[in-house]
Amino acid sequence: MTDLASHVRELVAEKNAIVLVHNYQLPEVQDIADYVGDSFGLAVQAAKTDADAIIFCGVNFMAESALILSPDKLVIHPEPESRCPMAAMATAESLQLMKAKHPDAAVVSYVNTTAEVKAESDICCTSSNAAKVVRSLPNEKIIFTPDINLGSYVAKLVPEKEIILWPGYCDTHQNRIRVEDLQALKELYPASEIVVHPECTPEVIDFADHAFSTSGMLNYARDSDTQEFIIGTEREMVYRLRKDVPDKIFHAIDKAVCPNMKKITLKKVAASLENMGPSVHLSDEMIQKARIPLEKMVAVGRGE
Ligand code: 13P
Ligand code: SF4
Repeated sequence: MTDLASHVRELVAEKNAIVLVHNYQLPEVQDIADYVGDSFGLAVQAAKTDADAIIFCGVNFMAESALILSPDKLVIHPEPESRCPMAAMATAESLQLMKAKHPDAAVVSYVNTTAEVKAESDICCTSSNAAKVVRSLPNEKIIFTPDINLGSYVAKLVPEKEIILWPGYCDTHQNRIRVEDLQALKELYPASEIVVHPECTPEVIDFADHAFSTSGMLNYARDSDTQEFIIGTEREMVYRLRKDVPDKIFHAIDKAVCPNMKKITLKKVAASLENMGPSVHLSDEMIQKARIPLEKMVAVGRGE
């Protein structure tokens, strides 16, 4: 461990904090985590921790969700400018208009949304349980915000429902992971299975062998008989996979970077522990409203 990493861990113990880290974070940040995981796992950890403070290393909607699920804790986001652009592609006002057009539809919002949009939703989901969440609802019609790719993927898995799609997307998965990239890697590593994230385009998902959330990829790689994988998601996922499944081989798409996830560095984590800030704030009313769909999502659990 480097001196800075040891300093961070000492501060974490001194402040009775917990460090929650998303799978796309820089290796230096993953290495000092108490827990590294996908959006679903991070939400569950945030809801059940008895630490005094949560140091959240991920994009801002994830840190907001931690506060909503654990409103009595101090939630610290080491770089508040680490924001998910997809979450900005749906607003509460535009969702209200959509709901007025389809009054019989239930609203399922991906966790990659603002607290305001969550507050207007019936239930949230992550990529690990989106189809299960949609199936759990009695409504035949579903408004799915904001990811058009995850929504289209769910529509294929749950054909008995009418899914009204929203035109949001993730630039990293939409534009930096293409069928040609997977084809090129498959030519180099023909024995590999291709595993992609459901935020990828339908063409990429169809070309792949499987689509999973980031932690779903980890579970699959660990349990499968396959030895080699091409990973179609943010490239740092491969660091996590190599660390946790060291006997298998993983190939990343080098240009598949989420620049926002990379704004959090170990230095910023250290500074946030020294200052116990910047912290995440939401009004009590917003927390109460957004908590209902998030807790429903946690109650549904991970998907199949
Ligand atoms: P996961 O829930 O699979 O970790 O995905 C979150 C995300 O932002 C993917 O781009
Ligand atoms: Fe948002 Fe895409 Fe980054 Fe995930 S990878 S946090 S969806 S911009």
